[in-house]
Amino acid sequence: METNFNVTAQAELRKLVAYQRVATALAHPNIAFIKYWGNQDDRLRLPANPSLSMNLGCLYTLTTVSFDDGLSSDLLLINEVPIYGAALARVSAMLNWVREKANLTTAAKIESVSNFPIGSGIASSAAAFAALSVASSAAAGLDLSEAAVSQLARRGSGSASRSVPTGYSEWVMGDDETSVARSLAPPEFWDLRDIIVVVNQEHKAVGSTGGHALAKTSSLQAARLVGAINRFQLCRESLLARDLATMGPIIEEDAIIMHAVMMSSHPPIYYWDATTMMIIQAVQQWRREGLPVYFTIDAGPNVHLICEAKDAETVMVQARQLPNIESVMSSDVGGPAMLID
Ligand code: DP6
Repeated sequence: METNFNVTAQAELRKLVAYQRVATALAHPNIAFIKYWGNQDDRLRLPANPSLSMNLGCLYTLTTVSFDDGLSSDLLLINEVPIYGAALARVSAMLNWVREKANLTTAAKIESVSNFPIGSGIASSAAAFAALSVASSAAAGLDLSEAAVSQLARRGSGSASRSVPTGYSEWVMGDDETSVARSLAPPEFWDLRDIIVVVNQEHKAVGSTGGHALAKTSSLQAARLVGAINRFQLCRESLLARDLATMGPIIEEDAIIMHAVMMSSHPPIYYWDATTMMIIQAVQQWRREGLPVYFTIDAGPNVHLICEAKDAETVMVQARQLPNIESVMSSDVGGPAMLID
């Protein structure tokens, strides 16, 4: 996927799409190395801890927003299927922020397509809301800074804030203005790969938004938050030193602690199934055999295997031999969310 649009080209494109009131943006999902789980403010999605992630360059969502005087209300199409109810309301809420800022009252048609399974713990809402923020603000004629687009994306879906900047991103804690993501390093800084072992691509039973609200009901969440600051710092330092041997165990610990919080919430949320556990054990075995690969798991049963590019082929071959899995995908590090038309 071409991601090297320069700043001038983006500015020219912005003028054109503002005139036409139609814009298309592309954004990648991201995989968190230090997880976001639980909010200080659920409405504004102000996180209870800082997080850190890598954009997934081979996966993307393309979203077109067309403000249209002929529409009486917003119309949402995901992978060509009209969507109503809570998902439409969430998209309209973001558009309302944009309309208010741009002094617009016009309804919009929002068409979104993705090249990966949505709602299965592969951060589909991150790519969707990052692309929606870029497309809707540009179509409304707003010329927002990257931080302002990240803020807008965060209000739609917390992890979407991290899909706005390029490469590796950190999303800091703060208030509505300051809790945004910024890039720590571009994709070319470190050629890491995410080999995604898809265990089940069904829509997950408990969405992230519901899960965040339950985080504080776990007696483990307070301990998770204390340790998260330290893990965030260590992960940040080892990432900037390109030191996978140090970073790997931190990202595994961070994912496991998040899932311990999920499983001990009231009511509990179990995103893993037996295959998830089998893959964790396989990764430990591969490491004992000398393969430097580490796992992380989002809000779903699928397992993300993080390794350097030189080991990606071996990890893919091993992963494909695992029993009871649906598929294996591989991604390099992705660029920023951007306007493409
Ligand atoms: C487990 O960003 O999907 O993937 O803000 O409610 O949309 P909402 O939640 P979301 O939560 C992501 C949770 C996670 C960890 C992470 O990506 O940091």
